[in-house]
Order: sequence, then C-alpha cells, then structure tokens
Amino acid sequence: MTNQEALEKRRTFGIISHPDAGKTTLTEKLLLFGGAIQTAGAVKNNKIKKTATSDFMEIEKQRGISVATSVMAFEYENKQINILDTPGHKDFAEDTFRTLTAVDSVILVIDCANGVEEQTKKLMEVCRMRKTPVIIFVNKMDRDGKDPFELLDELEQTLNLKVRPLTWPIGMGDRFQGVYNIYQKSLNLFSANKTKIASDLVSILDIQDEVLTEIIGLKPAEELRDELETIEGVYDAFNRETYLSGDVAPVFFGSAVNNFGVQELLDTFCEISPSPRGRESDKRMVEPTDANFSGFVFKIHANLDPKHRDRIAFLRVVSGKFERNTFYHHVRLHKKLKFANPTSFMAQDKSVIDEAYPGDVVGLYDTGNFKIGDTMTEGEIMMYKGIPSFSPEIFQELENLDPLKSKQLEKGIRQLIDEGVAQLFVQQPGNRKIVGTVGQLQFEVINYRLIHEYGANCRFVPRNYFKACWITSNDKIQLESFRRAKANYLAVDKDDNLVFLAETIFLLSMAEQDYPEITFHKSSEFMLEL
Ligand code: G4P
Repeated sequence: MTNQEALEKRRTFGIISHPDAGKTTLTEKLLLFGGAIQTAGAVKNNKIKKTATSDFMEIEKQRGISVATSVMAFEYENKQINILDTPGHKDFAEDTFRTLTAVDSVILVIDCANGVEEQTKKLMEVCRMRKTPVIIFVNKMDRDGKDPFELLDELEQTLNLKVRPLTWPIGMGDRFQGVYNIYQKSLNLFSANKTKIASDLVSILDIQDEVLTEIIGLKPAEELRDELETIEGVYDAFNRETYLSGDVAPVFFGSAVNNFGVQELLDTFCEISPSPRGRESDKRMVEPTDANFSGFVFKIHANLDPKHRDRIAFLRVVSGKFERNTFYHHVRLHKKLKFANPTSFMAQDKSVIDEAYPGDVVGLYDTGNFKIGDTMTEGEIMMYKGIPSFSPEIFQELENLDPLKSKQLEKGIRQLIDEGVAQLFVQQPGNRKIVGTVGQLQFEVINYRLIHEYGANCRFVPRNYFKACWITSNDKIQLESFRRAKANYLAVDKDDNLVFLAETIFLLSMAEQDYPEITFHKSSEFMLEL
C-alpha cells in the first residue's frame, strides 16, 4: 500500500460525551455496524463505574480492559476506521483532552433530554481550540426530551459553533416514528430493537409525496414538512468545507441503544470526515504525505502487574510509514530505539504489526523511555508541540512518611506524572510536591500505586488552591516583583514552567489587576505558541 492509498482509507476519530449520554453504547453500535464485533456488551466493560471511587482492584481491572479498547480499529466500506476511546469519567478528563490531540475529528453524543452538559462544554472547548471537525449525535430520541429546535439553539449558544441538521426526528419518546435523512432524502422508520441492525428505509425524494402521509400519518407528515421548510430557511445548506474547518457541526438524531440512526451517522461519517491531518511541530508543519516517519506519544498505560514495570506508550503516526524492528529517533532523549512488538488494536484484539501509516495508533512496549508528548522521527530534530495541560481542580500535597523510601517516592511520582495520571507542581523551599488532579479518584489511584508498585510510604494532605495558572511576561521587572511578592504561591510544573497557585478566584483577579504585564494562562496551551 502506498502512503497516499493508506491516507485515503484512514479515518481516526474520538467519541466524546458527558457521562451517561450514550458514548459507550454508540461506540459499541458503530463496531457492530462495522462488523467488528458480533455481540453487544463487549465495550461496556470498559466503563469505570461511578461506584468504583474507592475500589482499587476494580479500577485496576478496568484499566486493564481499557488497554485493549483504547483504540478500536475496523474496516468499513473500504475505510479503516480508528476509534480512539476517551474515558467518560470526569476524573479522567485530562486523558480525554490528550486523546483529542491524536484524533482528526470527533463525534459528540448529546442526551436529547439533558442537552449540553458540563463535560460537553469542556470537551468542546478543546475541540474548538484545535479546530477539530465535530459531528453531533443527539441520542435517546426514544425518550421524551427537549424540542429539537430548542436543542439546536442551545448547542449553538452554549458551544459557540454553528450547527446543521442532516437528519430530522419525527416525534420523540412514545411518539418517535423515525428520522428523515435530509441529506439522502429517505425516511428511516423506528422500531425499538436492541439487537436488529437492519433498518426500514423508505426513499422519499419529494417531501410533499403522499406516501409520507400514508406512512407516518397526516399530522406528523404536515409537521415534518413545516419543520424541514424551517430548517432550509434557517440553516445554511450543508457544506463540507465549513465542517472540516470546525465551524459548522452536522447534527444527527437517533437512539443508539436501539441501533437507530447509527447507520446514517456511520455512512455520512465515512463520506465527509477528514482523512489523517498533519500536525504542527516546533520546526514546521508536518504533513501526513511527508515521506519520513514521525509521530508522538499521547497516552501511556502502566502494566497491571507491579512486578513488570513495562508500559504501553500509544503513538499516533503523523507522517511517513512506521516499520517494525527499525531504529527511530527519540528526540527528547537523543536516543535510537527500535520496537520488536509494535501492537495494533483491532476492535477487541491486539496484534503485532509490521507497519503503520498516518492516522494509525501503535502501542509500543516501553520500559521507561517515554513521557506523554514525546516525539519519534527518522532522525529529524523536531518536537510536536506540547499536549496542553489544564488547571487541575483538586490540589493535595504529597507527604513522605518514610525518609528511607524517599528515592522510591520520587521515582514513583515522576513516572506516574510521565504517564499523565496527574500534574505535579514543585514548591521551594523544601521541594514540596503539590499534586493536582481533576478528580478525587486519581489520588486514590496514585496512593495505591505508589505503595504497591514503588514501595513508597506516603499520604496526601489537602491544599486549598482554586486554580493553577501558568505565568508568562515580557516585563522582566514586573515578573521579578511578582515572584518576590507571591513566592509562597509559586511552583514549577514538570517542565519547569512557572505556575501561580491561586487560593481563590478573588486573589487571582487581584493578581491579574495588580500585575497587568503578566499573563495568567488557564492552560499550558500557550506553550504551543512559544
Ligand atoms: P456513556 O458511555 O456516555 O456514559 O453512556 P452509556 O452508553 O453507558 O449509556 C448510559 C445509559 O443510557 C445506559 O443505561 C444506556 O443503556 C442508556 N442508553 C444509551 N443509548 C440510549 C438510547 O438511545 N435510549 C435510551 N432510552 N437509553 C439509552 P444504563 O441503565 O446506565 O445501563 P444499561 O444497564 O442499560 O447498560
């Protein structure tokens, strides 16, 4: 296969949603429609359940399962679809943000009753920053939810993007009859069925056709005609370019659990979604068509067995062709590395691969060489621009309870930070380690792993910070005076960037007012511009 053929075939994307909107169900249904799995339930196990907050073994077990399901590749209509799994649990949001740097587009799942939820907004902010093309799937139409027009308004207003419905629901809840495919001018009739994947498609090229009335009834048919007229009046015609530029999101309606609306989604996705895109490095824009191999690590998974410290680093191929048993250049370490068993993930199976192309994700067995964000090339000295960190929400100080185990603790926490489990801010004097996460669950995981995998003896003490802001300024004098005045609230992150730990929103805005020449970044995304 040539690089060009491989590129045309590949579609690498992520599915994102607020927990419970139906991400897992939709992922599974896409695999089912794509013929990658035969039975429902295979992906379900991957969910970290809400009840698991203090059950470490459960977390460990599920982490194990999620290695296999982190990437799910399958062939459909001559396309190789790579779905990158994103954890739904909000405590693992950072993981999701990082995975979003490795996809070329996303499908956002919305619950028709709940509309735009907290997590949806955060995830979409990341997509907007990167101009990622988004398709929206409004799920659970078999239940009563918000009026579809209201929902579209809400999507536009709260997510700050334009939408364009490509299918339209006929009723909802008990009155849900199906969806009309505006794009292909066909009617798909709904039947609640969790196992059947065939659909009842009726071609209705002219919406005024009496057949429509015969099938769905006079009133619903009239309503549908009115609504379609409104849609054509209000929303611009679908244009693939505005979708690819991340400005307009096409919208589909359906019911994932009933296999309904999924076919339309998958078919349209194959038709319009982008093939692998290039990535910006610190030296240049790297195009997927570039002949030389390059890629970056966006996720690291620790081995479940504490006796084996090896991990799996997930590398997204950006350009060229990756080959097994070939030496590549690890840019940060200035080191040549080759991989005897690079792994690909086909649905539930892992297998050793000989080659991989742009858009593919390769699992590399690693004994400690990789950090999240690392770049591999054929020799070129360039680094893919950093994967951004966002301010954690919870801060706790890591206290060593056994001075004889300091080394183990230091090594353990550094390795876990390299894996991206949490963020570390080190304060001087005293080398105090403040660990920041987005959820309580991480502290439990870290504590458990430090004790069981590294033999450390430690505990976490809550610290009352509200936000961590990355600090930059061109005004050296003002920066110096800020450093002196706020010494007790300053720390450095894992890459030695200066960070201000603000105790309250008030103190943060005071600092912003008092030091106008200093920029307080809410994410480390600014590093991309440096
Ligand atoms: P998530 O990954 O986004 O967290 O959501 P998930 O797919 O697990 O779905 C959350 C719940 O919503 C599940 O119910 C699932 O069955 C249900 N669901 C998904 N799609 C639809 C749909 O189209 N219609 C309706 N009515 N429900 C839907 P659960 O009770 O939490 O789990 P389960 O016992 O049904 O598996």
